[in-house]
Amino acid sequence: MSDVYEAELVVDKREFAADGVLALTLRHPLGEPLPAWEPGAHLDVVLGPDLERQYSLCGDPADRSAWRIAVLREPAGRGGSAYVHEELGEGDKVRVRGPRNHFALRPAARYRFIAGGIGITPVLPMLAAAEAAGAEWTLLYGGRSRNSMAFTEELARYGDRVTVAPQDEAGLLDLGSVLDALPEGTLVYCCGPGPLLDAVEARCPSGALHVERFQAKEQPVGEDGEFEVELAQSGRTLTVAPGVSVLDTVRASGVEVLFSCTEGTCGTCETDVLEGTPEHRDSVLTEEEREAGETMMICVSRCKGKKLVLDL
Ligand code: FES
Repeated sequence: MSDVYEAELVVDKREFAADGVLALTLRHPLGEPLPAWEPGAHLDVVLGPDLERQYSLCGDPADRSAWRIAVLREPAGRGGSAYVHEELGEGDKVRVRGPRNHFALRPAARYRFIAGGIGITPVLPMLAAAEAAGAEWTLLYGGRSRNSMAFTEELARYGDRVTVAPQDEAGLLDLGSVLDALPEGTLVYCCGPGPLLDAVEARCPSGALHVERFQAKEQPVGEDGEFEVELAQSGRTLTVAPGVSVLDTVRASGVEVLFSCTEGTCGTCETDVLEGTPEHRDSVLTEEEREAGETMMICVSRCKGKKLVLDL
């Protein structure tokens, strides 16, 4: 099992950051410092049995006394956001695991940030880091309406580097204004709803682009054949049946592994691949990481050949 930090934290502060967006400040009940994190990191928040959600850290990484997350109420969601909005009050405890970062800010001279709705959360600390590093950057931030867009007051201090473009005032985000004629050496960081990420992916050179998805990306349907998985740490070999995930196969054998979303978006189940070629079906790894084949998300990804050797 991984030695990732896990603790029950206290909801110290609960305030609305926009219509339907609740910002929670979490602290350790004994005032212990929390693990360090970098912009782009997220937490697994355990909201009940079989109810875990991932939320990006959107506070100040230098403040080890508190973590801040923001939760959009999603009426059509599966219960996580409703629980946070309706049940979690100031003084309540909540179990968290992490932080984990699959959306790290790489060094660059120039950044173009694009955020849609609650996708502003991982981007917010990135702006401060880009600013502190002296990089040249801009943010294009869209949402349904101005009132639904979180943290616009905090963004005001960045002046005209931030373009706030609510859809009911400005229509769809003008991605061409950001992505066409991208200067050499610019990195693009984008987080938001799937259609926005798809549109950005279609328009942006892939080497420049970093995205974080909250919902699983549609994957090309691959063959769901049987293959073997050797667990290097125990020397055991398991057969992964068609239609059954590597994660479920490994767990059924009694080996404990960390997992959370089970749909290839959170990165919790990331496992090192020692031999064999994974068939990646996740929404976490970049094209380069997929090609390198050194790790895989065992909740969704499978095997291109007959066998994988995993570091489990
Ligand atoms: S459990 Fe979330 S990516 Fe596998």
